Amino acid sequence: MPITTQQLIQWKQQGRTIVALTAWDYITGRLLDATGVDLILVGDSLAGMLGYETTIPLTLEEMLHHAKAVRRGVKNALVVFDLPFLTYQESFQQAMHSAGRALKEAGAQAVKIEGGYPAIVETVAQLVQAGVPVMGHIGLTPQSVHQLGLRQQGKTPTDGERLISEAIALEAAGAFSIVLEHIPSELAIEITQKLTIPTIGIGAGSGCDGQVLVTSDLLGLSERQPPFAKMYVNLSDAIAQAVQEFAREVRDRKFPEE
Ligand code: KIV
Repeated sequence: MPITTQQLIQWKQQGRTIVALTAWDYITGRLLDATGVDLILVGDSLAGMLGYETTIPLTLEEMLHHAKAVRRGVKNALVVFDLPFLTYQESFQQAMHSAGRALKEAGAQAVKIEGGYPAIVETVAQLVQAGVPVMGHIGLTPQSVHQLGLRQQGKTPTDGERLISEAIALEAAGAFSIVLEHIPSELAIEITQKLTIPTIGIGAGSGCDGQVLVTSDLLGLSERQPPFAKMYVNLSDAIAQAVQEFAREVRDRKFPEE
């Protein structure tokens, strides 16, 4: 049965932890879905896979192209489309247009947007009222890299209070879930306890309602990975080994066999 945003909220109430991962293509989407991942984020971390230094240059067209491929591979997981930088901040109309394309063209079931300042909260409220499920994202927000860097957020009491207020405001605006990225674990626990919607942590400790990782980090395919990511397998090494073996066999005329 396809997973819904309401189900994620129920799972928080039931204490069932949510498993989320990113996907940028059909094969990964299909594999993650078949493995029973609950939520698949077509993250704008796609930028790294396309060779960009940051998520800033990524376009809506690029995201749509990849999200359509992911969607074709997913039957059950909730597919969330990460709206790229400056495709939702300009105006509510812009956000509605971008989110509309994510849902109508790519077949995503929800969108994710970064930030918790008042204009974003207002945008979330308007999108939700129009029938677009929205996931929030606060703490380290990579689209603000030129303002905040990639540092841990919420370290001072004032910053922590601000993030708590933003999370509460996003919930009140109708967000169905919030990503908490790279914040102290005690702060993530406090936010998680204050909300009725699930928090999905990345670099925010084990006290969130769910966890998300960038799949290329988990698989050891990323060029650089954040300190909080965990590599479960080193596919970069496995690929290099397989390619070297292929090259050797071709050069030695051992492949293909007669
Ligand atoms: O783009 C992405 O992959 C993300 C995750 C880090 C949450 O936003």
